[in-house]
Amino acid sequence: MLWKGNHLFCNVPLPKADDRPLIVSHPGAHMNYLASWNVMVEHGEPFVLVCDDLGPAYPDGWWAQHSKDGMEYFARLQNPQGVGQAYRNPDLSFQNLLVHRGLDANKGMEDFPLIDIMYVDFIEIFLKYNGEVDWRPTFMAAAPKMVEKVRDGGVLIIDRKNVHEDYDQWLEFPQGEFEVSPGITLEHVGKGEWLILDMPLNGGGRDEIHAEVFRVSNSNPPGNPDDFLATLMKERRLAPKDLEGFKGTLPTRWPGHPTLDDYTERLFNHYDHPDAFDRPDYPEPLESSWKSEKYDEWLQWLINHPESLRPIERNERIMQMGSTTVRLVHGTILAHLDWLQTKDASLVVRDALRESCLAENLFLGKNAANLQPFMRWKKPIRHMRWSGPDATPNLTRELLKLSKSNVMATISHGIATLEELEAALTDYDGEVEELVIFHLDEEDYR
Ligand SMILES: C[S@@+](CC[C@H](N)C(=O)[O-])C[C@H]1O[C@@H](n2cnc3c(N)ncnc32)[C@H](O)[C@@H]1O
Repeated sequence: MLWKGNHLFCNVPLPKADDRPLIVSHPGAHMNYLASWNVMVEHGEPFVLVCDDLGPAYPDGWWAQHSKDGMEYFARLQNPQGVGQAYRNPDLSFQNLLVHRGLDANKGMEDFPLIDIMYVDFIEIFLKYNGEVDWRPTFMAAAPKMVEKVRDGGVLIIDRKNVHEDYDQWLEFPQGEFEVSPGITLEHVGKGEWLILDMPLNGGGRDEIHAEVFRVSNSNPPGNPDDFLATLMKERRLAPKDLEGFKGTLPTRWPGHPTLDDYTERLFNHYDHPDAFDRPDYPEPLESSWKSEKYDEWLQWLINHPESLRPIERNERIMQMGSTTVRLVHGTILAHLDWLQTKDASLVVRDALRESCLAENLFLGKNAANLQPFMRWKKPIRHMRWSGPDATPNLTRELLKLSKSNVMATISHGIATLEELEAALTDYDGEVEELVIFHLDEEDYR
C-alpha cells in the first residue's frame, strides 16, 4: 500500500527489470534483512538482495530464529566470489537470492554496477561523526552516498523501524524533486506500508513495515549488471554446455547442513526411543535450494542468453594417453573450481592448496584426497616430494590411486613432461578416466 498525502494506492511503485533480477541493496541490515526480503517477495519480481553488514545475521547462524513454522526457509548456496554467503527460497515462483557480505557497506557499494532498490533502515552507516557535540545524522548528509549507485528510475526506501524521536532528522528532506549530488535527484513519492505475509519478522512483534519511498533520477551511466551477477551465482560463470549437464539435477545442499534424510532419521529415532534420542533441534531441512523444474527452466534461460554468462576461459590442451584423457590447463586451479565441481572432480593436491580450493568451493571437499594428514602414519604417500628430479618416483600413479572419482584434478608435479605422463598412463587401467593437470609454467608438459 502507498499513502500519497491522504490518498491510498494499492501498490508501492517499485521498479522492474528486463532479462535480469532486480538488484536490491540493504546495508547494515542485520536481522532486518527479513523486512527488505518481505518487500521483495511481495513485489513478486525476480531479485537478488545483497546485505552488507560488518557483522551479518546469517539465516543459518541461529536456526530457530530464521525458520518459518519449524521449516527451513533459506537454503544455503555456494558462496559468492570474494566475500559472503548466499541463500535462496525454493518455494517462490520467481528468481530470488539473498546474499550476506561481512564488510563495510561503503566499501561494498563499490561492487554494485547499479542498484534498482536501495533499502535503508540506518542512515548513520553513510555518515562520519565529525566530533561536534550536537552532531546530528541527517538525511541530506547521507543521501549522496546512499543513492550513489541507484539507477535512473530506481527507488530508495527508508524503513522507519529505527526512526523515533531522536532520529526525526533522518527524514528531513525538501518537497518536490531535489538534487542530492551531481546528476542525481530524489522525489518523495509517499509512505509505503507492507503487511508481513511470507517470512515473519524477528523481534519487536512487528508484522508491518512502514517506510518512506523516493523515486531516483540519475543521469550517471550504470555499470554492467551481468558482471556483478556472475560474481554471485556460480551458474552464471559457466559455459552453456556445462549448464546443459546440470539439467535434471538439483543443487546439492550446503556441505555440513543436515539433509532432509538426516532429519527424518533423527526424528524417527526420537519417536522410537525418546529417552535415547532428542528431537532434532533445527528446522526441517529443505530438499534443495531449487525445485527441479524451476532450476531446469532457469538453466535453459541462461543457456538461451549466453550474453549474460561470464564463463571462465580455459587455455587447455587435450590428449589421449592409454585409456586416460589428459587435459592440460595453463592457469591456476583456483580460477576453475566451479568447472571442476561440474565434473565431480577429485582434488588431489597438497594441503595448502587444498585448503585454498576448499575455502573457495567447499563442495569439492567431498571428493578431495588428503595427501598430508596430521598423523604421519596415515600419510598415503610416504616421504612425498612433489616436484623436480628428486620427486617421488611414479608420483602420477600414486596420485591416481587416491582419486575419489573418475576425474582427477591436480597441478604440475614430478618433472612435468609429457614423457613422464605417458610412462605413467600408457598401461594404466585404474578408475580415473580423465586427468586434469593445471600448470602455471608455460613450458610444463611441452
Ligand atoms: C543499529 S543496527 C541496525 C540493525 C538493523 N538494520 C535493524 O534495524 O534492526 C546497525 C547495523 O549496522 C551495521 N553497521 C554499522 N556500520 C556499518 C558499516 N559501515 N557497514 C556495514 N554495516 C554497518 C552494524 O553491524 C549493525 O548490524
